[in-house]
Formats: sequence, structure tokens, C-alpha cells
Amino acid sequence: MRIGYIVGSLAQNSINRRLAKALTALAPEGVEFFEVSISDLPLYNSDFDADYPAAALDFKESVSSADGLLFVTPEYSRSIPAALKNAIEWGSRPWGQAVWGGVPAAVIGTSPGGTGTAMAQQHLRNILAHLDMKTMGQPESFVQAREGAIAETGEVQDATLLPVLQGFMDALVAHVETNARVTV
Ligand code: FNR
Repeated sequence: MRIGYIVGSLAQNSINRRLAKALTALAPEGVEFFEVSISDLPLYNSDFDADYPAAALDFKESVSSADGLLFVTPEYSRSIPAALKNAIEWGSRPWGQAVWGGVPAAVIGTSPGGTGTAMAQQHLRNILAHLDMKTMGQPESFVQAREGAIAETGEVQDATLLPVLQGFMDALVAHVETNARVTV
């Protein structure tokens, strides 16, 4: 099983990238995680539909090769970052050639604030529902970023966070297994 992960932040020292590292390190044997990068995508507009740039074709190809997708995103202005929304746009066009439909997915994120990306996650769930993705309902996980909780290497140093992330990972793998996309 191959699960792609999309980090919604373009920042070099992104705490969400660190969370992605921590989570993917908890994957069981036989499950491979790979990053579906959004950092090279230009801003989408429909003029590109006639001739998608290489970065966008690569992005769609990468999404299509995944058995499931994990979104790890910060919250910007109580929603998802523009960079992530832009990537979703690229993957949803040209009309009739979207790569999202039927793909099992999960959503998680971290922010220093007490709400831990809850509102961004709700917005993202709404978008993924429209795209007909099979998004895992539970567990939800709103990770409040605390100093020293996750090392730069991705090692989880907060003993209370570790079982939360392990439980999320186990549920994600089971969700992707159960909801594998149907290929004809
Ligand atoms: C933020 N941040 C933020 N945090 C939050 O909990 N709710 C919010 O609505 C916002 N809004 C917001 C807007 C913008 C433009 C920025 C740059 C930041 C703070 C945010 O959680 C913090 O910068 C995180 O470190 C972002 O995650 P990454 O990029 O480090 O993964």
C-alpha cells in the first residue's frame, strides 16, 4: 500500500511538515508514505486547461498513483492555506479529469493555537466531500503545537501525543484498506 501525503504549508520550518514526518514514521510495515509536493505549482487558472504545465501533470500523476491521501495542513485565517486550495484546484481540472474522486483520505493538522486547525480541517472536509473523496470521519485530531513535542527529525517526544498519532495512523491505514479505490 502506498499513501501520499500533502503538506498544506510551503514554509521551510513548517510544523505541519514536522507532524507529517512524525506520523509517517509510525506507519506499519508494508505501508509506504510518499510526499505529493505542492510547492512547484503555479497559481491555477482555467487558461491552463488546454495545456497543463509539467508541474501540474506531475502533481496529478503523483496523486493518481496513491492508494490513499493524507492531508496535513495548517490553518490560515480560519481556513486552509491558499497553496493547498490551489493544489486542489489543479487536481480537479480539466473538467471530467479530476484525480480526487473515490480516493480514501484523512485530514490532520497542527497550530500553536488551542483550536489546533479545527476550522481549517472542517473547511477541508467540506471541499473533499464535494470532490467525492472518501474522508475518514474518526478519529479527528487537532494537534496543538507545543515546544519540544516533536523533534525536527519527526521523533515524538511528548508521551501523551504518541498514542494519539499512533491511533490516527492505525485508523488511516485501516480506512485506506477498507475503502481502496475501485479500478476497472
Ligand atoms: C496563521 N496562523 C493561524 N493559526 C491558527 O490557529 N488559526 C488561524 O486562523 C491562523 N491564521 C494564520 C494566517 C496566516 C497567514 C499565517 C501565516 C499563520 C498561525 C499558524 O498556525 C502558524 O503560523 C503555523 O506555524 C503554520 O503552520 P506551518 O506553516 O508552520 O506548518
